[in-house]
Amino acid sequence: MGNIILIGFMGSGKTAVGEKLAAGLGWHFIDTDARIEEEQGMAVAEIFAARGEGYFRALESDCLRALVQAGTDETVIATGGGMPLDGENRRLLSGLGMVVYLRVTAETVSSRIGDFSLRPLLDGADPAQKIAALLGGREAIYEAAADVSVDTVSLTAAQVVSAVLEEIT
Ligand code: S3P
Repeated sequence: MGNIILIGFMGSGKTAVGEKLAAGLGWHFIDTDARIEEEQGMAVAEIFAARGEGYFRALESDCLRALVQAGTDETVIATGGGMPLDGENRRLLSGLGMVVYLRVTAETVSSRIGDFSLRPLLDGADPAQKIAALLGGREAIYEAAADVSVDTVSLTAAQVVSAVLEEIT
């Protein structure tokens, strides 16, 4: 299927870049977190608090399967940061189109995320330490899941869009 899928850590700019990229291409834009929130009538942080992370991960996989079944095409898909951690999700993501990893450093994540209460995995004591530990454990998975990787540190969303377009064309 002909889509562009953005993967990467929280704060890597998947949503901001995805919206601009889709607008520039004249494609549709889907954010999997936003879609889950709409369908559940609850924010991601509320789903985590009420039902736990496992329940959210099942919703995330359901959302991805629905995109595949719908024959999604000409769409930029921004994924939640945990989407590629599951092997079956990785297989489905690569079947949907070109998977682009937006690379970021722990320092940049800390400076970009304003409200940690919206990111349940980072909320609470010492978010910087949580970011470093989670990102360290995920980087190799993101790289392996991606067709191409793009550095985003010190770039604006518009500059990342240009970098993505250069990588994929
Ligand atoms: C998560 C990332 C979040 C959201 C949830 C879990 C993760 O999405 O899906 O809080 O495990 O990295 P963003 O990457 O859009 O913040």
